[in-house]
Amino acid sequence: MKNSIAILGAQWGDEGKGKIVDLLTEKSDAVVRFQGGHNAGHTLVVDNKTTILHLVPSGILHEHVKCIIGNGVVLSIDALSEELEVLRNNEINTSNRLFISDNCPLILPVHIALDQAREIKKGKSKIGTTGRGIGPAYEDKVSRRGIRLGDLRNEKELFSKLNELLEYHNFILKNYYNCEIFNVDKMYEKLLSQYQDYKDYIIDAPSFIESLFKDGKKVIFEGAQGSLLDIDHGTYPFVTSSNTTIGGIFTGTGISPKNIDYTLAIVKAYTTRVGSGPFMTELFDKNGKILSEKGHEFGATTGRERRCGWLDLVALKRSIEINGFSGICLTKLDVLDSLDKIQVCIEYKNDTPVYKEYKGWKRDISKIKNFDDLPENTKIYVKDIEDYLKTPIDIISNGPGREENIIMNNFF
Ligand code: IMP
Repeated sequence: MKNSIAILGAQWGDEGKGKIVDLLTEKSDAVVRFQGGHNAGHTLVVDNKTTILHLVPSGILHEHVKCIIGNGVVLSIDALSEELEVLRNNEINTSNRLFISDNCPLILPVHIALDQAREIKKGKSKIGTTGRGIGPAYEDKVSRRGIRLGDLRNEKELFSKLNELLEYHNFILKNYYNCEIFNVDKMYEKLLSQYQDYKDYIIDAPSFIESLFKDGKKVIFEGAQGSLLDIDHGTYPFVTSSNTTIGGIFTGTGISPKNIDYTLAIVKAYTTRVGSGPFMTELFDKNGKILSEKGHEFGATTGRERRCGWLDLVALKRSIEINGFSGICLTKLDVLDSLDKIQVCIEYKNDTPVYKEYKGWKRDISKIKNFDDLPENTKIYVKDIEDYLKTPIDIISNGPGREENIIMNNFF
């Protein structure tokens, strides 16, 4: 049994992490987010009720679990307020359960304006961002211009930092993008009042998490987006602006690598991508439509239709190398139920994918609880993926509900 595990998307995000984090959270004491921001969309279906989380760790639906937002997350306080309101309306209490690092860089409305103005200016070559201000907020962090949550404690310094930041961005917004500019006094007043609302949530995250480890608590590190969207290792420049791969956990929380006992790759049984960028196995035919419709492949954050394609084992192998995954959770396997034939990319030749073809199983597998009870063709598909990736498939998710899984290895 492992005490502390990481759960990371191994493709371009939307692999179904939220459901698996939620499932494993039953056995955990804390869930930690370490990168990204409210660009993420984690869909949880519990008792037929759907909750979509963007910023708050997926563990929040379990009353006994502490949820921590680490310093690697870019924090929009406006988005946080909206999400907490939804949770409150669902009678989920977050005080003394949600804790936020004082080193989180803030996403301010000016970052959102910059993100959107840039995408418009780029026209056809746009990244297809979520328009949530993620990139500009990370840029401000790296340029040492950013404002962090803990900076709200010091009113005087906050004003001068904000003034400097807005002076810089307003110049660009006005003169380069021809957009509205932001008023420093208004933003300052708003931040001060938000500080009053959230000051009790602020913690020194590294020591907080360390004390959980010392007390023998079980901790989950919840990734957002996927490995192929990593700023360093992904399909640059069509990536997000954070490290979605394993290293992001350490820089994004301040814990040591020795504290992670197991890393779980979330792998969808086919591939999807939202936004622009290369996608070797993308489908434009009726199979793509089937995947999109049966898999409800619409962005949880932006509602955009996701691009769909076959499973790409070459890209996945790379993802496995970078993250050193201990095991795989194969998700949405039931989405393939109605297909006559299924293809899997096993090689790239002259920049075109080479496929291996599998016979479909043409049966509803969503109620099956044991691997042995799966149709023969499903078993062949799953076992081949495992063999190619040389990594055990420890969980199969065969439906959207919390209970629709086949657990092959009870590692946590
Ligand atoms: P950004 O993170 O908003 O800057 O967007 C950069 C790229 O990452 C775009 O292609 C987005 O569609 C993609 N992206 C960001 N968040 C997610 C996510 O949670 N799931 C899938 N794609 C995402």
